[in-house]
Amino acid sequence: MKQHEVIEKNVGLMALLMVLAVSIGGLVQIVPLFFQQETTQPVDGLKPYTALQLEGRDIFIREGCVGCHSQMIRPFRAETERYGHYSVAGESVWDHPFLWGSKRTGPDLARVGGRYSDDWHRAHLYNPRNVVPESKMPAYPWLVENRLDGEHTAAKLQAMHTLGVPYSDADIEGAVASVKGKTEMDALVAYLQVLGTSLKNKR
Ligand code: HEC
Repeated sequence: MKQHEVIEKNVGLMALLMVLAVSIGGLVQIVPLFFQQETTQPVDGLKPYTALQLEGRDIFIREGCVGCHSQMIRPFRAETERYGHYSVAGESVWDHPFLWGSKRTGPDLARVGGRYSDDWHRAHLYNPRNVVPESKMPAYPWLVENRLDGEHTAAKLQAMHTLGVPYSDADIEGAVASVKGKTEMDALVAYLQVLGTSLKNKR
């Protein structure tokens, strides 16, 4: 009783002990994750993004799509019924940075790959109201005009390789040729169509 009184009457000491308690609690939750295969190893069938998909991902980041769309299906019935198998860590081990997000003004996109045709995505991104009349998603018409020059594509793959994504030398050498002349729309649609597909069979 006495000892606790000492802590309660000493704000500095109490703050210190609180920080200590919270830190230990945090470490106990976080540290084991670094040593679990499940959270550090890629799932079977995971493929690195192709050069075009990687460029598409950068457009997704540039346009701020993550501000309205998460890429993280939580393990709840209401989510798995709507979107498919919940997201697992091994699907995003090669995503730098990951785009899980947390804001859902629009639907989650973690498993949108293959759900619609390429043409649907093109029409939708050009002007969402053309296919979903009540949509309040912004239109991105410039994506069909802007062309990729591939100037930084090889460097991007190289950077990912440094971060542990298994690109081969041939992937990096062929990167520029595989994106040059393609539109930003081509790249973004290629990216959307691969999202979540490595785990599709577990649906
Ligand atoms: C202001 C919020 C907002 C932004 C920013 C936004 N979206 Fe959306 N998005 C929505 C809403 C709302 C819907 C649902 C209506 C619809 O389908 O258009 C949607 C639907 C979608 C769908 C269909 C998903 C499904 O399962 O039906 C895709 C794909 C999509 N958005 C991709 C994108 C991409 C790519 C970007 C960035 C270029 C983007 N969105 C930016 C709000 C947004």
